[in-house]
Amino acid sequence: MKKLLLALLCAPLLAFAAGAELHLDKAPDRSRDFPALQNGAKVFVNYCLNCHSASYFRYNRLTDIGLTEQQVKDNLLFAADKVGETMTIAMRRADAKQWFGAAPPDLTVIARARGSEFGSGADWLYTYLRGFYRDDARPTGWNNTVFANVGMPHVLWELQGEQAMGADHKLALTKPGKLKSQEYDAMVGDLVAFLTHMGEPMATFRKELGVIVLIFLAVLFVFSYALKREYWKDIH
Ligand code: HEC
Repeated sequence: MKKLLLALLCAPLLAFAAGAELHLDKAPDRSRDFPALQNGAKVFVNYCLNCHSASYFRYNRLTDIGLTEQQVKDNLLFAADKVGETMTIAMRRADAKQWFGAAPPDLTVIARARGSEFGSGADWLYTYLRGFYRDDARPTGWNNTVFANVGMPHVLWELQGEQAMGADHKLALTKPGKLKSQEYDAMVGDLVAFLTHMGEPMATFRKELGVIVLIFLAVLFVFSYALKREYWKDIH
């Protein structure tokens, strides 16, 4: 009986281990770091929103990460007219498919989508965006360590530089980019934090609410207990 119970308890762990053969680098947790999230939003709007939409995310929700509507209007609103609009793009899906062989998916909930497959969507994205390497066999000239034969070109290559896949299956920087490798990783960390935030803008609030509820219950318990003692004290 004990063995069966143990097996049942461990089953989800085994299932998880089987799915996660890929080595993923750990994304830094910047879910409460407003400057990082703001930088991530800036990178996203500048480098990703040309091809990918985030059509469930409204620009004015950027006020959740500490920006004012005016700042959003002045700095981030290239692809829309009003801050109440969602992050859509002008490119037609059919054209995109023809150009890249695959249509760039909407990225609003990408962290959650990849998270259900790999345990942590943030880690997958962090590894993906740092895992492009030169591959002349590909139409775009690029391949990726966690997304084999990806249709997306390495749009951040000027910043990261060029990597090559070595015979030892490790990436090596062959041409430096504008950023040092730690700087590039830091920027991708910010971008991934923002991508994660978009999929779950209420996550931080929900965690805080959970703590408040627990404190409330603890306080309630003290009072209920005192009240119970008060009620029962004459009966004994
Ligand atoms: C030039 C157009 C283009 C730009 C710019 C671009 N992408 Fe992509 N992206 C694509 C295409 C096309 C695919 C689909 C690849 C496939 O399915 O083979 C893709 C796929 C992806 C995926 C994988 C989605 C999945 O299926 O899980 C992620 C994540 C992603 N892009 C993130 C980004 C981010 C972040 C940026 C900004 C730094 C960005 N992309 C900029 C074209 C683009």
